[in-house]
Amino acid sequence: MSALPTLKYYNGFPLSPAVDANWVAELIEGGFQLYSDDVLIVTYPKSGTTWTQQVVSLIRGLPRGQEETHVTNSIPWLEKSKDVTLSLPSPRSFKCHLPYHMVARGTPADSVAKYIYVIRNPKDVAVSFYHHTKRYNDSTYHFTGDWNDYFELFLKGEVDFGSWFDHVLGWLAHKDAENILFLKYEDMKADLRGTVKSISQFMGYSLDESVIDRITEQSTFENMRSDPSANPDSLSSIKAKITKNSTPFLRKGIVGDWKNHFSDEQSARLDAEYAKRMAGSGLELRYE
Ligand code: A3P
Repeated sequence: MSALPTLKYYNGFPLSPAVDANWVAELIEGGFQLYSDDVLIVTYPKSGTTWTQQVVSLIRGLPRGQEETHVTNSIPWLEKSKDVTLSLPSPRSFKCHLPYHMVARGTPADSVAKYIYVIRNPKDVAVSFYHHTKRYNDSTYHFTGDWNDYFELFLKGEVDFGSWFDHVLGWLAHKDAENILFLKYEDMKADLRGTVKSISQFMGYSLDESVIDRITEQSTFENMRSDPSANPDSLSSIKAKITKNSTPFLRKGIVGDWKNHFSDEQSARLDAEYAKRMAGSGLELRYE
């Protein structure tokens, strides 16, 4: 099976069908000005972007509600719409799925913005991405394959935003940059309060312990699910795009769901690729 049929591209690099490819070209080629109070939440898709948007939105104290104050709109997707991106008032926060060399060209010191890069183990990412693709299938992806087909595409990087390995390695090459905070989904699960603290300190906020407690509570999986200002499924614009009987956006929110999808052979192949590509990166991910 060849690449997902409806992907868009920038110079051969696969983008989500949902982005504005002309705008992506414009922003990559230098048409986008970043400010020192900008925060970009960057991820390979399905790595905990919305979760981090929730934490950043609460730290910023952004207005919260439905439609334009929903967390996915008050922290919009950089690549999706030129108008939305350019009209956002400062201090701005965006989510972004671009590789390092496309969004932060030059040395990190050249960029005045702050970046939060979240990494999730690629097995759980592949499973979550498969469900995401099926979820938006009728409106967006038109992917006719099953999990086994998707796994092959994922391993080859023939899905939106390319290879997980290239994406993560591209950002990790800058792991000592002071304006990039690296987080792991698995650590966020293990210690959400500690993560909220790290993000707030990185963003230059000094919050009371009681505020940290409240943000932590509001950012648990269960509380995001029941919060219409955080759950993407409460938005009519999202509901309109979902294939009937597909999984919720906040699907399982656990570490290790890959075991319910991967065959032993698929697991061994991904492990082998991980060992080959990630050797020397220093990135240890817990798969359990
Ligand atoms: P699953 O599909 O494994 O459940 P993204 O926002 O980058 O698209 O990532 C979506 C994934 O993050 C989904 O994973 C979703 O359930 C999970 N997620 C979102 N909020 C979460 C939270 N508060 N705690 C744990 N996982 C969360």
